[in-house]
Amino acid sequence: MGVSQEHLDALVAEVLSSPKYAAINPELVRAVGARELAVRRTLREAVKETRGRLHQVAGAFLDRAPRYDAWLATLRAAQGKPAALRGACQTIMASHASTRERLPELERFYDAIFAALPPVDSLIDLACGLNPLAAPWMGLKPGAHYAACDIYSDMCAFLGAAIPLLGLRGDAAVCDLAVGPPSWRADAALLLKTLPVLEHLRRGAGRELLRAIQAPWLVVSFPTRSLGGRNVGMAATYGGQMRQIADAEGWTYESLEFMNEVVFLVRKG
Ligand SMILES: C[S@@+](CC[C@H](N)C(=O)[O-])C[C@H]1O[C@@H](n2cnc3c(N)ncnc32)[C@H](O)[C@@H]1O
Repeated sequence: MGVSQEHLDALVAEVLSSPKYAAINPELVRAVGARELAVRRTLREAVKETRGRLHQVAGAFLDRAPRYDAWLATLRAAQGKPAALRGACQTIMASHASTRERLPELERFYDAIFAALPPVDSLIDLACGLNPLAAPWMGLKPGAHYAACDIYSDMCAFLGAAIPLLGLRGDAAVCDLAVGPPSWRADAALLLKTLPVLEHLRRGAGRELLRAIQAPWLVVSFPTRSLGGRNVGMAATYGGQMRQIADAEGWTYESLEFMNEVVFLVRKG
């Protein structure tokens, strides 16, 4: 069916009316919806496929409704108690599949990454999920600047309130990285398991994003197992893609391997 404004408005309203998708960046819903309307036979089919795509790139990682108010209360109660604060952060990170699978090796993960980078006073975390809660493991200086973005407005509001509670400056903003990054500059950018979801939204979006980011160091990771736990040759596939991009751009890189993830430390220019 064709893409009329009327159908697109109806699709966006329908998708945003369900609690699971209500907080998603409406611009992203619109972009995905427009592509689906162009290739599906009915509005109903396009709505279903749009929901499916948004589930694949975001909803699938959140297993239950996030409890942002309760989480903020826990973080506030843990102020001044480093062990309690870390415990609270771990509990919260367990609610997002992407951070949950990193928990068993959080210390090793960030020790290895930050040992390989020059001192980082400002960091951007792109398609962050709940990863800003891992800041206590990153060894950032108190008052370092941490800017994060994702597609959920409620998640970003929570993270914006949580970042100062972690002893950092910074904020979180709603974005659509398939269109481009926020215009932030930083010492380093985290793109942890971000590129594969962007490729589901638009082919070539990952490489364009890497080029557009205003940071000399990129920390780019890829899952080496599917969400269901299967190892389906992902390390070789994604590793190959990353090497191809870095070689074509003339960027240098090294890679680090973890249980479920391979990380590329990329030096741009
Ligand atoms: C695999 S998770 C990675 C989360 C986090 N980087 C981590 O590794 O813990 C993918 C994240 O991308 C976000 N996302 C999906 N599409 C996006 C888009 N177009 N722009 C920004 N973020 C997006 C999802 O909401 C989700 O939090």
